[in-house]
Amino acid sequence: MSTAKNQKAKRVTTHTIQEMKNSGEKISMLTSYDYSMAKIVDAAGIDIILVGDSASNVMAGHETTLPITLDQMIYHASSVVRAINRCLVVVDLPFGAYQGNSKEALTSAIRIMKESGAHAVKLEGGEEIIESTERILSAGIPVMGHLGLTPQSIYKFGTYVVRAKEEEEAKKLVEDAMALEEAGCFAIVLEKIPSKLAKMVAEKVRIPIIGIGAGGGVDGQVLVIHDMLGINQEFSPRFLRRYNDLYNGIKGSVEQYIEDVKSKDFPNEKEQY
Ligand code: KIV
Repeated sequence: MSTAKNQKAKRVTTHTIQEMKNSGEKISMLTSYDYSMAKIVDAAGIDIILVGDSASNVMAGHETTLPITLDQMIYHASSVVRAINRCLVVVDLPFGAYQGNSKEALTSAIRIMKESGAHAVKLEGGEEIIESTERILSAGIPVMGHLGLTPQSIYKFGTYVVRAKEEEEAKKLVEDAMALEEAGCFAIVLEKIPSKLAKMVAEKVRIPIIGIGAGGGVDGQVLVIHDMLGINQEFSPRFLRRYNDLYNGIKGSVEQYIEDVKSKDFPNEKEQY
């Protein structure tokens, strides 16, 4: 007889994500990069964990997402996969691991799937990465697209301002979203674009659109966990809602610990053998 404790949670798949869009249930997605955090996020009931290349910023302290390597992404992803019981795990293909050619893109995606046990990969870009996307999909690997502000191209854009405000860029974004759907992507992230445009794309394509700074008219939302928990205090864009103040929570605990050690309050009689 199975008990509540040993019952396996029903896994979220790319099909579940599509069913959510079809039924109007919003999709929740957050980043995680390590075992302990992913365990909490999965237990809370998140639908998708993104092992984002934002690890380059929040885990490694780089200014951009460009320096993180494929090996480092695999390390983060395998730590996350060991923690989860239910959610879908999507991993960013890092800068330099897929832009060269479609063969290289497939090799990188296969390494992520084989070495981390993740369920899907995410690539930034539209028309220019369609060949790579199709080649990865032909190997049976689900692909999530990413349009709008694509941080791996920051040196092309020059700034992190809102994208696709002008008609020409908006038109290209819509065409790119349709091309990614046509190629077979199971979902697309739209980052930092006008909410009206994001809603229009979500209505135009059948696959789920997950927004970050793209308003409420899309099929789901994603945030970087360090930002929404208030661990990272340096980043405060308008779209970010902070659900905690862990920077001060952790700092306060560390200050208390230091004081307890210095004052010989820790360890007490009960905290020793
Ligand atoms: O790397 C990342 O965390 C991302 C999200 C911001 C969507 O791509």
